Amino acid sequence: KSREEYKNINFLITAGGTKEYIDPVRFISNKSSGKMGLAFCDSVKKRGGSFRLICPSSVEAHYPAVFADTAGDMLARVNDFISECDILIMAAAVADYKPKKYFSSKIKKNNGHMCVDLEKNPDILQEISGYKRKNQVFVGFAAESDNLQENALKKLKDKKLDMIVANDISRKDIGFDSLYNEVTVFFADGKVEHIGKKRKSEIAEDILNFAVNIFKNKKGF
Ligand code: PMT
Repeated sequence: KSREEYKNINFLITAGGTKEYIDPVRFISNKSSGKMGLAFCDSVKKRGGSFRLICPSSVEAHYPAVFADTAGDMLARVNDFISECDILIMAAAVADYKPKKYFSSKIKKNNGHMCVDLEKNPDILQEISGYKRKNQVFVGFAAESDNLQENALKKLKDKKLDMIVANDISRKDIGFDSLYNEVTVFFADGKVEHIGKKRKSEIAEDILNFAVNIFKNKKGF
């Protein structure tokens, strides 16, 4: 592929799992390593596009990144940069819940039962869907262990996405922290594409092809 192919297309890419702090040393998180999101950065760079990466500081990013550790931080940073992007790739695994109370000192061990109350985090894609521009393309992911199609289609519609990339996270050989993935892509126009198991770098190339085609159609070229 030519280095110039994505010239003048701006991508916003999120990667990794957010961390929701309980106290200064403990947090709730998930298994996302950031590999999938970073594979998009590699592909965009290879084809001459420009991108901004937003991820938690724990992701081993080989690119300059805007750090966002919690879902709240990530929402704020996505809001900062969304207007300048043509294509949003939301590969981050954003925590749906956070501890209701943050303890500013380390919680001491005691003999009793311990309980952490959780409350809902904002849904980033849902929030930004309200001010999506006509020419922007939003790509979401769906990490599912059951009813992949039904759940992915609901997210596609609720979050007003152009396409959603669904992966089955119950499989140990793909998905979280693996070099590989296997995905089904559901498009807003009803089309469905399955991409069999391959390296995340190759999956990213396929998904970018789809997203850039949608973008070019919207722009009329
Ligand atoms: O990072 P890796 O180890 O390489 O693993 C890749 C991956 C499995 C994490 C990735 O392929 C993936 O599936 N990412 C999305 C994980 C996720 O949060 O899925 P979800 O079904 O909970 O969310 C649906 C979509 O809404 C996602 O695009 C998510 O970024 C977004 N979301 C979710 C919750 C929230 N509060 N705000 C959001 O915007």
